[in-house]
Amino acid sequence: MNNNFNNIENKRKDGSVWFNDLTRKRTNGPSFKDYRYTEYTDETKSVHSGQYDDPSTGALGTPIFQCSTFYLNESSYKAIEEGRGRDEMIYTRYGNPSQWSVQEKISALENAESSIVFCSGMAAISSAILAMLDKGSHIVSSRDIYGGTYNFLYEDLDKFGMSVTFTSPTNINEIEAAIQENTKLLYFEALTNPLLKITPIKDLVALAKKHNLRLIIDNTFLTPYNVKMLDLGVDLVVNSATKYLNGHSDLIGGTVSGSRKLVDRIWPQMLKNGGSMDPHACFMLERSLKTFALRMKTHNSNAMELAEYLENHPKIKNVYYPGLQSHPQSELAKEQLKGRNSGMISFEIEGGDKKSHELLKTLKLPKEATSLGGVESLISLPYNTSQASLTKEQRKSIGINDGLIRLSVGIEDIDDIISDFNQALHSIF
Ligand SMILES: Cc1ncc(COP(=O)(O)O)c(C=O)c1O
Repeated sequence: MNNNFNNIENKRKDGSVWFNDLTRKRTNGPSFKDYRYTEYTDETKSVHSGQYDDPSTGALGTPIFQCSTFYLNESSYKAIEEGRGRDEMIYTRYGNPSQWSVQEKISALENAESSIVFCSGMAAISSAILAMLDKGSHIVSSRDIYGGTYNFLYEDLDKFGMSVTFTSPTNINEIEAAIQENTKLLYFEALTNPLLKITPIKDLVALAKKHNLRLIIDNTFLTPYNVKMLDLGVDLVVNSATKYLNGHSDLIGGTVSGSRKLVDRIWPQMLKNGGSMDPHACFMLERSLKTFALRMKTHNSNAMELAEYLENHPKIKNVYYPGLQSHPQSELAKEQLKGRNSGMISFEIEGGDKKSHELLKTLKLPKEATSLGGVESLISLPYNTSQASLTKEQRKSIGINDGLIRLSVGIEDIDDIISDFNQALHSIF
């Protein structure tokens, strides 16, 4: 096995030095090996893809390359000169074997040529967006996006001479009407927070093609286990790895995946914004991802069972879950999600916010905490967390009613979760 990290020549399939060669073909990666287990299912890819067994000691599993810098040599000097530092080990903000390893696993799961891991979802999102735009560019996005992303688009884009129009995430006519001559990018979330509206991805892909725009989708709520956005024609997919990808509520991270060509454009933006992922966090993320498919399977099935239980409970008014027939887009859910409906549920309880507070205090298993996608169930109220900056009237106008609760269903035994809800609802009513 090759143990010279800086010798990229024998890692590239065609062996070419390509920076100034216009006939060059960008390869996958950067990576230590070309084999990604692509012919296998996500269960197998989660375990094996990207793992870099240490060739000098024979240690099984990717070591933590906890270093900020690397010995320079002829190969790295040449890469710096030719501007292809992404394929070399030079400095950890540029690249590190721990990053390459987890990036390869994510690329395998996303069916992507290339991926970058970042120190947070917001670092991934802001770098990806800025890298796709020039001064004067316009972007169409949704009113129903994560607050941090909304703030970045709303408060910061005009500092760079860029602008944004916010539309509904589901009304394709409204989205098309917002496109201007200088529009370069469509940016949407696949499943919205907290009402779990489904963004029609195929329609957005068609719109992006028609108007020659790039399309970025934040797939944090669904993950590549449930829907592979790149397979549907999306240009770039971003995730807050803090959530399901890591799944243990113990790190902050983000990912961007897509073609090597586009991801190579995001890399220099990451260098400028400084959002690269620390090697120890990479190790934790790669390790956590080994159980990713198993976890997602359980999140999905637990959420489905709990959604049905809640829908049949007399004290629960509305349940928002794409797997339910009552979801306003249940046909689109079947077509786009194919039964993999996520682990997120929102529901409204009789008695409004007062009763919802009581429920949170009476439940024993779900932790009252923001965030989502952990192995433990996490529960919160949108009115005093994610949508706290809106007035009651504004919340109502976007469908966030009194008593709305957001639940990230964990991987506990579903019978235990349901009996916990039973005891809590029984005790507060
Ligand atoms: C859908 C979505 N995208 C992005 C983010 C930002 O991710 P991070 O907190 O890892 O920066 C979040 C965080 O809650 C999120 O829910």
